[in-house]
Amino acid sequence: MVETSVTRPRPPVKDHPSGDNRFKLIDRTLKRFQHQQDALIEVLHTAQEAFGFLSDDLLIYVAHNLKLPLSWVYGVATFYHFFSLKPQGEHSCTVCMGTACYVKQAAEIVSALQNAYGIEAGQTTPDQKLSLNTARCLGSCGLAPVLVVDGEVLGRETPDSALARIRAIVEGAGT
Ligand code: FES
Repeated sequence: MVETSVTRPRPPVKDHPSGDNRFKLIDRTLKRFQHQQDALIEVLHTAQEAFGFLSDDLLIYVAHNLKLPLSWVYGVATFYHFFSLKPQGEHSCTVCMGTACYVKQAAEIVSALQNAYGIEAGQTTPDQKLSLNTARCLGSCGLAPVLVVDGEVLGRETPDSALARIRAIVEGAGT
């Protein structure tokens, strides 16, 4: 008679050596792509999803595991607007500063938001409500000037309309 099943004890689930199990998510992606260097963007995506932003420690961890120079990993993380190297606020607003948007008042939109919230582009308000960022062309030039607010693409805004939209979202009320 053939024995059909053998119950083996499951190996204990080990914690990540760093003490932070979010690194396990990164390790899984590294493994999925067999630590190939051209998986850098995928790995950075996973790291940002797990931690919310790409800290120096994360960039070092990714560089080490892909055997890439840290300067290269840093360069990629800063080139793409969807990566953030700082903690982000509850809401995020990215204003496109590509040429098509720039000639249609993108800089004025950034100024209006900076003045209203007392922050520079690349910063988060002290109450952690809003992060303001700028980006190179977001690929929707026909809608210029373009903003991405909490993942939603807004087009053909003016400084006043953009400010009103952001206020409504951040403060939960229209102006
Ligand atoms: S320049 Fe802004 S979307 Fe292309």
